[in-house]
Order: sequence, then structure tokens, then C-alpha cells
Amino acid sequence: MTEIPCIRWYEAAQKRRSRRSFNSSPIASDLLAKIDKVCKEFKPFHGIRAVVVSRSVDKVFKGIVGHYGKIRGATVFIAFIGDMNDPYIHEKAGYTGEGIILEATALNLGTCWVGASFNPAVASSSVQLRKNEKVLAVTPVGYAVEKVSFEEKIMTGFGRTHKRKSLFELVKGLEESKWPEWIKTALEAARIAPSAVNRQPWRFNIEPGSITISVDDLKDTYNIPKRLDCGIAMLHIEIAALYRGIRGKWEFLSPPQVARFVAQIPSDSAFA
Ligand SMILES: Cc1cc2nc3c(=O)[nH]c(=O)nc-3n(C[C@H](O)[C@H](O)[C@H](O)COP(=O)(O)O)c2cc1C
Repeated sequence: MTEIPCIRWYEAAQKRRSRRSFNSSPIASDLLAKIDKVCKEFKPFHGIRAVVVSRSVDKVFKGIVGHYGKIRGATVFIAFIGDMNDPYIHEKAGYTGEGIILEATALNLGTCWVGASFNPAVASSSVQLRKNEKVLAVTPVGYAVEKVSFEEKIMTGFGRTHKRKSLFELVKGLEESKWPEWIKTALEAARIAPSAVNRQPWRFNIEPGSITISVDDLKDTYNIPKRLDCGIAMLHIEIAALYRGIRGKWEFLSPPQVARFVAQIPSDSAFA
């Protein structure tokens, strides 16, 4: 994939919700081929790959106790596999996986990032892991049941897990009145990104022409690295910037910082 389909993914980001109940119908072969294609072609970084698996789907989500994480009826899952020797593997996984999840959303398929409530042994044996690789997260893919089931409502705390913090709580740096349109759009898009248990660990520092993401603190909870959530926010920032006509480059940073997006703005542009 040479270009990110920014309008398609930006619009998908606005409507995506985690879905955990599916209707058990196999995915139509043309849609499945499109999912397979995006997994094979959306490879923005070395070290991370995504594989579509149509075997052992029930088993990978089976035996999970409690409401959080019960996935039912999916016929396919995608494994996000990372090279654990790469120091930035979690943010790369979040960024890459979210692109694939947004493409599935654009195809009207349901998904849910699952970083904890899956069986890693089943997931690992369903794909061929290379040396130093690990399945970092998975997502079911399928036709979500049309009406959100009562069970799903309980899992999402009747919509609570979809609520987000205000930008006021998340952003520091350049004052809001000085933000160009692309920064505003990018921050709004980052704010609605999914995160494990909706913890929203990302913090943003704004300087003229750049957005720096850091984690709120260095404690990872639920055994899911916060840098994975931050990688998802990175993709949301980039698609929103592109949606506003702004290209940029990412620079990976050391903890507690995660990465900085630097806009490439010609000096004679109205955005400068
Ligand atoms: C990295 C990551 C890991 C997640 N792990 C799980 C999980 O193990 N089980 C689960 O049911 N949901 C999981 N979720 C889904 C979140 O609970 C959900 O994204 C969050 O509550 C926000 O809701 P929304 O996706 O509907 O906006 C995970 C999400 C992310 C981003």
C-alpha cells in the first residue's frame, strides 16, 4: 500500500466501536480477500505483521472469565505479531493494527482489539511464529450482531467504556487559540482512539508544527503496554492530518515519550 486511504480511515475512525458479539456467518469471500490484502500490504514498519486466521477462532477466545473480553460468534481473527527485539514494537503494532481495524470498519465488519482476554498459546499455535516473534494482540473480525446485545451492553458499562477524556485533560503546550486546523482535527481524532479498558494513557504536547505523544505514567496495567494504545493514537493523528492536507514524519522517542509527529509544511503555506 503506497498511500494511506486517509478519508476512508478517518471516516471509519468516527464510527468504529469495539464489538464482541458476532452472528457466526462466514465472511463473504470478497470481503475476506480485502482483509487479507490490507494485512499483507499495510506494512508501514519493519518488525510487525498481521495474519488472518480462520481456524480455532472459538478456542482463542474461550475460557475467558468475566464479562470483559467475552467474544462470541466470530469466524475469523487477525493476529498482530511483533519482533520482540524491536524497541518500538508496541507502538508499531498499535499503528499497523489500527489501520487494519479501520479498513475492516470501512468494510462494515466488526472488530475489537484484544490484548489480554485471549489465549496466547492457541493464538501462537495458529500462526507460524519466527524467531523472537510474539502475538501481541488479536482482533475478531466478522458481522457484528445488529442490535448491541445485553451482554455487550454490560461489557461496555452501558456505553461508559466509549466515553473519552476532554482535550483539556490530555493536551499541554501551545495554547489552543494558536492551533492550526490540522492540529485540532488530529487531536480530536487521537482522543477517540480505542485503548485497553479505555484507559486513554496518551498525553499530547503541542509545539508549532508538531505533536509529541507521551504516556501518562510508566506503569503498564492489565499486562498490556500503554505504548500499544499510543501507537493507535499515532495512526489517528496521521490520518487526521492527511485528511486536512498535512503530511508529516514520525520520530520514535524514549519513555515516557513515545513519538513525535512533525508536519512537513512548506514555509509559504497558510498552515505555517
Ligand atoms: C490495546 C488494546 C487492548 C484491548 N484489550 C481488550 C481485551 O483484552 N478484551 C476486551 O474485551 N477488550 C479489549 N480492548 C477494547 C477496549 O476495551 C475498548 O477499545 C475501549 O473500552 C474503548 O471502547 P471502544 O473501542 O468501543 O471505543 C482493548 C483495546 C485496546 C486498544
